[in-house]
Amino acid sequence: MKEIYVDNNATTKVAPEVLEEMLPYFSDFYGNPSSMHSFGGEVGLKIKEAREKVAVLLGAAPEEIIFNSCGTESDSTAIRAAIASNPDKKHIITTRVEHPAVKNLCEHLSKNGYRVTFVPVDRKGRLDVDYLYENLSDDTAIVSVMWANNESGVIYPIKEISRIVKDRRIVFHTDAVQAVGKIPINMGEVGVDMLSLSGHKLHGPKGIGALYVRKGTKFSPFLIGGHQERGRRGGTENVPSIIGLGKASEFSANHLEEENTRVKYLRDKLDNELLYRIPNSAINGDRENRLPNTTSIGFEYVEGESILLLLNEFGICASSGSACTSGSLEPSHVLRAMGVPFTSAHGSIRFSLSVFNTEKEIDFIIEKLPLIIERLRDMSPFWKQSDSVLS
Ligand SMILES: Cc1ncc(COP(=O)(O)O)c(C=O)c1O
Repeated sequence: MKEIYVDNNATTKVAPEVLEEMLPYFSDFYGNPSSMHSFGGEVGLKIKEAREKVAVLLGAAPEEIIFNSCGTESDSTAIRAAIASNPDKKHIITTRVEHPAVKNLCEHLSKNGYRVTFVPVDRKGRLDVDYLYENLSDDTAIVSVMWANNESGVIYPIKEISRIVKDRRIVFHTDAVQAVGKIPINMGEVGVDMLSLSGHKLHGPKGIGALYVRKGTKFSPFLIGGHQERGRRGGTENVPSIIGLGKASEFSANHLEEENTRVKYLRDKLDNELLYRIPNSAINGDRENRLPNTTSIGFEYVEGESILLLLNEFGICASSGSACTSGSLEPSHVLRAMGVPFTSAHGSIRFSLSVFNTEKEIDFIIEKLPLIIERLRDMSPFWKQSDSVLS
């Protein structure tokens, strides 16, 4: 049975052309880009080309791109660089719905001398921007707000927030791991100082990320070592993966329109059909302002994990919250921050599509999921109770 993969916010398939571009750099062209000989030098040129491709995707300059190991490293580097550059400032602002890469670091810092403001969201996952602005102070070292949420797909008003934050001359970082490659991003149009991205979310390999650092931003490296990345990130370059990230950036740029037309159409079809066919179901998040590939739907009175297991029997790969938080039966911190009722948060499933999905696959999910929910509700005492109250 061929799997139907709709868990692309967890990770994506490496695009065939990305893999093809990477392969020779494992075995044929294995030189060290720092070497003096031309065998290494050729590899250095290929890294330069990859850096340019990432820069094009972001509307940035190549020198503003620092390659590293993942989105998590980018987030840590950005936040730690900002606080190291502003040693007198002891306040950080972030949101309640960040990925653990930012959330857990900020919680850690809050136990180590920093005051952290976690900005709340409303029932649709929209950020309380006024609360953010009211909390800006001369003591604020950095504001870190994700560009788009990995669970709900809700997109945040980065342009507006960055303008206000920059007016106060405070460092602004955005975790754009889920946004890059899915929606247009142009660093020339926003006041973002640092931006995180990750290769495996945009059809590149795992274990490669990049941090955009705007020219003139005070920076201190997270990994201190060799002169790689102009001394901003020590360690011999992960050459095949850097080349893969470059190619994946080009792939994403070429498919951006398809993502926002065909993929969005499939996501909307999935939403509309499931809501129509399954009573007591609702979208978690602002339908009008979401990533084109993502939907999180709550099915009341059933367990998300049971839904996933039954979907899995049909080869359908989805997620109940983010992959990073599954393993715990507690509703995710994102759904809790949004105030999704317990009965619905427990039965929430995230579907995240990609350009590799077909309409036939989406139709298959639309056919099978209502039967799965019906079967589970037939066994659920809570559903029977709610049913008897309703009838
Ligand atoms: C919004 C967001 N930030 C950061 C990360 C972490 O990225 P990586 O897996 O490359 O460390 C993820 C991964 O799920 C994410 O969704």
